[in-house]
Amino acid sequence: MSTSAPSALPIPHSRPSLGEEEQHAVAETLRSGLIAQGARVAAFEQEMARRLGVGGGVATSSGTAALHLALQALNVGEGDEVLLPTYACSALLHAVRAVRAVPRLVDSDPLSFNIDPEAARRACSPKAKALIVVHSFGLPAELDALRDLGLPLIEAGAQALGALYRGRPVGSIGEVAFFSFYATKLITTGEGGMLLSSNERILSVGRDLREYDKKEDDRARFNYKMTDLQAALGLAQLEQLPGFLRRRQAIASRYQEHLQPLSLRLPLAPPGRTPVYYRYVVEGPLPAEHYLSRLRALGVEARRPVFRPLHRYLGLTGFPRAEAAWENAVSLPLYPSLRDEEIDRVVAAALQSFR
Ligand SMILES: Cc1ncc(COP(=O)(O)O)c(C=O)c1O
Repeated sequence: MSTSAPSALPIPHSRPSLGEEEQHAVAETLRSGLIAQGARVAAFEQEMARRLGVGGGVATSSGTAALHLALQALNVGEGDEVLLPTYACSALLHAVRAVRAVPRLVDSDPLSFNIDPEAARRACSPKAKALIVVHSFGLPAELDALRDLGLPLIEAGAQALGALYRGRPVGSIGEVAFFSFYATKLITTGEGGMLLSSNERILSVGRDLREYDKKEDDRARFNYKMTDLQAALGLAQLEQLPGFLRRRQAIASRYQEHLQPLSLRLPLAPPGRTPVYYRYVVEGPLPAEHYLSRLRALGVEARRPVFRPLHRYLGLTGFPRAEAAWENAVSLPLYPSLRDEEIDRVVAAALQSFR
């Protein structure tokens, strides 16, 4: 394994895995002339629901759109409070704002990057109407403890498609779940998302609000539809998901094996939870920027895994674990299309940078 300066192009932080199956599926859809929402979207919804073991799905133009629909289907509206992790994607905050609800931010638990159930309990008030739980970086959150709070759970599965919580697929445990199929996600449709649930009322509200055409009343609706071109891509990707996840697991094991001797906090895999290693996030003693610049100099594009904790947008303090994660956490490249030689380069660069 070489520890010399990079000899090739920088290794990107993310890269979709797209091959002939995807090209074929999209070309066939194009040739059919039926490119808007149609049979392929319906098939993608059914296949996702089947794999998760839930009643149905509503495909959307993005994960944010799916969450927006989910909040409305749960009747979350003006003045209601929604609990959500502060160390998370800002899309969550935007969707909560869009229904004019009040975000109640919750810190992460001390060991993982997931929402802390005890902190969530403290944040619960009689106005709380729902809790958004993110399975951060592919590790299922503490769903049993969160369910004990008695609020409808919205599972944000964007980073954890295929992960298991006590043997059950993530996205099948809360009242409703949503996924994102953005280009960097576990499977992609370019942009796209899906709401999933076993509650027929939630599904039917989601389907109704997803489109505006041919309605009998003037309730505010959207154009949140997915196209058949995207769904064809999604179906081809879904076929490959088990292989993608095996590859992610194998890369994570390689990283684990080599980085274990360093004084770094590595991703957890607690009993009862099967992660999917959407991201390989490590925490060292120094600020993330220190490691990011060293990795960059060695040809590896690493990232802070969360752009900015949400409490910073709201000018709030008192989230020490999320602050520490934001300060120190570094996400290394990990995706199925990472070649063996690139894995070696990431390991070598990490050993040098985190030493
Ligand atoms: C947990 C989570 N929720 C929602 C989103 C937003 O999804 P989209 O970009 O498809 O709107 C993301 C995207 O990164 C995410 O990670």
